[in-house]
Amino acid sequence: MTLHLFSVAFFFFSLHLLFVVVLGSESELGSLIEFKKGIQDDPLGRIHSTWNITSLPDTKSCPVSWTGVSCDPESGSVVSINLNGLGLSGELKFNTLINLKYLQNLSLSGNNFTGRIVPALGSISSLQYLDLSDNKFIGPIPGRITDLWGLNYLNLSMNGFKGGFPGMLRNLQQLKVLDLRKNKLWGDIGGIMSELKNVEFVDLSFNRFHGGLGVGADNVSSIANTLRVMNLSHNVLNGGFFKGDVIGLFRNLEVLDLGDNGITGELPSFGMLPNLKVLRLGSNQLFGMIPEELLESVIPIQELDLSGNGFTVRFLMGSIGWTFFDLDYGYHEYLVSFLNADIYLAGESVSLAMIKLIQNGAEEIFHKGEKL
Ligand SMILES: *[C@@H]1O[C@H](CO)[C@@H](O)[C@H](O)[C@H]1NC(C)=O
Ligand SMILES: *[C@@H]1O[C@H](CO)[C@@H](O)[C@H](O)[C@H]1NC(C)=O
Ligand SMILES: *[C@@H]1O[C@H](CO)[C@@H](O)[C@H](O)[C@H]1NC(C)=O
Ligand SMILES: *[C@@H]1O[C@H](CO)[C@@H](O)[C@H](O)[C@H]1NC(C)=O
Ligand SMILES: *[C@@H]1O[C@H](CO)[C@@H](O)[C@H](O)[C@H]1NC(C)=O
Ligand SMILES: *[C@@H]1O[C@H](CO)[C@@H](O)[C@H](O)[C@H]1NC(C)=O
Repeated sequence: MTLHLFSVAFFFFSLHLLFVVVLGSESELGSLIEFKKGIQDDPLGRIHSTWNITSLPDTKSCPVSWTGVSCDPESGSVVSINLNGLGLSGELKFNTLINLKYLQNLSLSGNNFTGRIVPALGSISSLQYLDLSDNKFIGPIPGRITDLWGLNYLNLSMNGFKGGFPGMLRNLQQLKVLDLRKNKLWGDIGGIMSELKNVEFVDLSFNRFHGGLGVGADNVSSIANTLRVMNLSHNVLNGGFFKGDVIGLFRNLEVLDLGDNGITGELPSFGMLPNLKVLRLGSNQLFGMIPEELLESVIPIQELDLSGNGFTVRFLMGSIGWTFFDLDYGYHEYLVSFLNADIYLAGESVSLAMIKLIQNGAEEIFHKGEKL
């Protein structure tokens, strides 16, 4: 009797499973068909020739033969849609995808898609990799994107996204890469850095992010542990540079580009950044002395751009590395002494691979100790 009951229960349980799976994949197929309707132009014909329901053995199977679609062999669910660089265009309806409950990757980079991200995209909590870069998407980035707690890669660069970048980024604990370059997004940079937890790569260049970097050590204590590359160039940052005790926390930082902003003030010491290779601070309103460790071999810097600022440059070539003199050279003399230094740069113990110091249109680039 017990056994019988158990079998009956098992039968219904199996039926239920079957039902869920069948219904699941049919609605997934339906979602893809609806999604396809947004693809109005397909010059290479890759979608139109393969995204075809009659090419499938039945309406229950995952369409693994469709260009760009990957399925999980075990669950039979769509896990990835990758349509990068197929010249596609049309207004995409992201809400057609919300039934894809197992979708991990959505990559549509390098097409001509238009449309807006709908808040409901935040319900695809399986998403780990979202790349909509290099399209013509518009509109705001909905706050619900921060519901995608499993996201580790977010690339929305080179689109027409516009608006405040959502708060609550701290939900995205898995996020390693955040690339928003070339949009019309804004937000306070201090707030964003406080929210980002484990990110390694941040590119917010060519947007309208504002605020200063004079944040407290507490605000960056999380991001400072993991950050390797940060590009905030071509924004409207103002206020001061990082304070000495704060910049010193970025132990893994290799690339920092803050060029073309309105950052003011003096530079702190960089001696605490053992991995810094590229530092671009060109076209800001920085002033004061250039920290000596940037020009000596204390840190492995390969590229330094301090051009277009108001640094007081007081140097002449010396016998070991650059020697700073306590004389206040005017611009013209500075250039002269820099050219003098060229003689020295052609010598040996230069740690810089490239140094660019441009001012008032006059440009001098030295590469591995030689003038380019
Ligand atoms: C769908 O596939 C069938 C069989 O492969 C083919 O005859 C039909 O033309 C295709 N439809 C489209 C719209 O490509
Ligand atoms: C998702 O994309 C990443 C990066 O391209 C890749 O490593 C991973 O294998 C993809 N996963 C699936 C399920 O396609
Ligand atoms: C996007 O469309 C423009 C003109 O409409 C075309 O020149 C360009 O090559 C397209 N880009 C892609 C990636 O298909
Ligand atoms: C983001 O997308 C752009 C354009 O497709 C690409 O060039 C860039 O390398 C991507 N960023 C990252 C960090 O992968
Ligand atoms: C820095 O952290 C403090 C305390 O957590 C917070 O009140 C403040 O808003 C943060 N500053 C920024 C710019 O986010
Ligand atoms: C930072 O971004 C700008 C614009 O996207 C780019 O031109 C520049 O090369 C980037 N900086 C670094 C150090 O890669």
